Amino acid sequence: MYKLIKPSTTALSYYSKSSSHLLVGVQQNQFVSAGKRFFSIDQLKQQTKNQKLINWVEEQAKLCQPDKIHICDGTEEEFHRLTNDLVDQGVLTKLNSKRPNSFLARSDPNDVARVESRTYICTKNKDDAGPNNNWMAPNDMKETLKPLFNGSMKGRTMYVMPYSMGPLGSPISHIGVQITDSPFVVANMKIMTRMGQQVLDKLGANGTFVPCLHSVGAPLAKGEKDSLWPCNPTKYIVHYPEERAIVSFGSGYGGNALLGKKCFSLRIASSMAKEDGWLAEHMLILGITSPKGEKKYIAAAFPSACGKTNLAMMTPTIPGWTVETVGDDICWMKFGPDGKLYAINPENGFFGVAPGTSTSSNPNALKAINRNTIFTNVALTPDNDVWWEGLGTAPQKAIDWTGKEWTPASGRPAAHPNSRFTAPVSQCPSIDPKWNDPQGVPISAIIFGGRRASTVPLVYQAFDWRHGTFMGASTASELTAAAEGSVGTLRHDPFAMLPFCGYNMGDYFTHWLSMEQRTNSAKNLPKIFYVNWFRKNKQGKFLWPGFGENSRVLKWIFERCNAKGEEGAQIAPIGYIPEQDSLDVKGLDISKDNLRELFTIDKKEWLNDLSSMKKYCSQFGPRLPKEINNQMSDLEKRLLDY
Ligand code: GTP
Ligand code: SPV
Ligand code: MN
Repeated sequence: MYKLIKPSTTALSYYSKSSSHLLVGVQQNQFVSAGKRFFSIDQLKQQTKNQKLINWVEEQAKLCQPDKIHICDGTEEEFHRLTNDLVDQGVLTKLNSKRPNSFLARSDPNDVARVESRTYICTKNKDDAGPNNNWMAPNDMKETLKPLFNGSMKGRTMYVMPYSMGPLGSPISHIGVQITDSPFVVANMKIMTRMGQQVLDKLGANGTFVPCLHSVGAPLAKGEKDSLWPCNPTKYIVHYPEERAIVSFGSGYGGNALLGKKCFSLRIASSMAKEDGWLAEHMLILGITSPKGEKKYIAAAFPSACGKTNLAMMTPTIPGWTVETVGDDICWMKFGPDGKLYAINPENGFFGVAPGTSTSSNPNALKAINRNTIFTNVALTPDNDVWWEGLGTAPQKAIDWTGKEWTPASGRPAAHPNSRFTAPVSQCPSIDPKWNDPQGVPISAIIFGGRRASTVPLVYQAFDWRHGTFMGASTASELTAAAEGSVGTLRHDPFAMLPFCGYNMGDYFTHWLSMEQRTNSAKNLPKIFYVNWFRKNKQGKFLWPGFGENSRVLKWIFERCNAKGEEGAQIAPIGYIPEQDSLDVKGLDISKDNLRELFTIDKKEWLNDLSSMKKYCSQFGPRLPKEINNQMSDLEKRLLDY
């Protein structure tokens, strides 16, 4: 199992004494000496009358055989105890006092991102998981997992975390209970979810919850020294949508291990949403207010590491406009009595990409992470602070994400490209006053987008809901470091949900189309747009400055939501694009040529995209709704006439 590389003596002496424990490994028996802090299953029985929950925890304890069971209360005090213990063991490094209550963790170099190839949707019928998912029959998977979990928590504490995704008691929220043997995961879940006794109270004796079992899969023999990032080369991220249950083995990183996030809030929730008529989406949510004081809420789906956090927290460059943040990754939408879609952010924290985050690109994120934050796989500076590529001037030396000495001349990144911060949503200066509103916020527009070096213009709008659904379905993006695979290759990622849709993607398209029948009037549905901040010129340079300047695109979208008919728009074969001069570029240093290139629609490129889309869609066979085929032939006709 992975151990931190022992630094040379120069590195040790270079570090302050207070941080050197990170480099010398684990102190033994922290949890044993702190035994009185851990409780047995009897504690749970005092805290809840929910027999289903008690039985489930008892069963898992029997299977995993932990030394102790701890029921998490989600308090600050508990967070301090856990993080103190982790610092004592060398798992976390406490950062300097300019970043209070903040920590750095370094993962095993083989456990740095979601593992899509190890992620399964287990439905009775293979077709219900669809070609977009890895599949195994539920019973076969259970047989596979049983021996892995048998004794998997030996020598460790089993933590039980009752948590709510969404404001407690909101009609849009849902409850989960995660069991884990990783105190690092507990510390992260404390930030990412609303966790603790109040959730057990809400659950009551008969409430339903999504059971989420997680083990890093690294049992400890008596007296065996723990590694700093225990994990297992065998990994399984498993979902049983029909039972609404999650089981995850072998990884301690991000979406593999913080099961409230992708596993519950997207894979299981998307399947719940299909059954119950709502939407669980990989979308940010923002509020935008015009100089006249009119406010609208917008949701946007971009694939992983394609700009959701940045857009959600952006500082507009155009005068008089403000943007406020509701969420940066996940959006649950249900219909209100008025036939509009109301959205909540089910999360309580941000798990944001660190590289590229700076005072110029995302000042709100930087302020949100100035305290109470856990950093994973970024670099550590000599004064015990964090650094990553894109955060201003590089330090003269640092310890990189693998624990090795690093200088700017090292010729390798100091932070892993998928290094991340875990920080409370409430700390974001641009937080929206309604972010915690149990009713959610009404959504006026939905945006899709991805990384496309060519073909796709800066912004265009769907003609109607069906066309917009087709646009979402045709989302494609160049791969990023957030998942396995080679960075830069183009892949279809419908609705930015390819890794997160808990059922057959063909049925998911059908579900989106059905929204038209679920509202009282199609007028109440959000308008749909597609954006591309990442188009490049022949020299490989971005044509659009992005970040705060994206407010210019949001302004056009805002105005299109208020427009009657074609105001501000012109009809192109692919949808509405901004009419000449209707995109506000006042004060922006951009050449006429670049602007023209940003909106160029190349017939050949689009026909190529369309044929790739046709091929992609063919895998869904009879599950592909006819309407998607109609949309493809309509687009083809419009392109051929162009
Ligand atoms: P996940 O958390 O993985 O879902 O990612 P995300 O969609 O929230 O992406 P995020 O906002 O963290 O951005 C990922 C990367 O894209 C960062 O390195 C950003 O600096 C970069 N990025 C974000 N917005 C823009 C933009 O408008 N233009 C350019 N060129 N890069 C951007
Ligand atoms: C993503 O990959 O879309 C993320 C990070 O938001 S993770 O939670 O690890 O999935
Ligand atoms: Mn994401």
